[in-house]
Amino acid sequence: MISERTLLMVKPDGVRRSLVGLIITRIEQKGLEISNMRMFRMDDAFARIFYAEHNGRDYFAALLSFMTSGPVVALEVESPNAIALVRTAIGATRPEERLPGTIRADFSIQLTENVVHASASPTDAERELALVFGDSRTTLGTVHN
Ligand code: PPS
Repeated sequence: MISERTLLMVKPDGVRRSLVGLIITRIEQKGLEISNMRMFRMDDAFARIFYAEHNGRDYFAALLSFMTSGPVVALEVESPNAIALVRTAIGATRPEERLPGTIRADFSIQLTENVVHASASPTDAERELALVFGDSRTTLGTVHN
């Protein structure tokens, strides 16, 4: 089966709450491969581009403010069906729809501060991986911060 790549990101609340190790452990224990990782803090311009499809929504300003409030940890995850598998593992956007055992269900009852993000489609995954990692997958010996 063809391998897929997706972006999983621990949001600022997950980093503040020291959940990074636990989330990485869940991904590894499930058998997914982490093929790249980066910790960085989004500035407003980056967050606007990353969440461009939400521009105009009533929650957009709150989303930007939250996502720029501290560092995030971005993981590139690879496996067959990685996009669907990681989306299932993180759980639904709406708190009342999150199934027990998913990351969001187990660690958040909030809509905005929901611990993790994951790409929703192959198009989103390629776009988000390029934004976060740029050419760092192919360039050795260079610090990307
Ligand atoms: S939607 O409603 O279908 O667009 O939902 P989704 O595609 O999952 O993305 C919503 C992202 O915006 C964040 N967010 C909110 N969504 C809805 N309502 C409010 N108030 C809100 N505040 C923030 C939500 O956490 C989703 O972020 P990501 O990072 O994509 O999971």
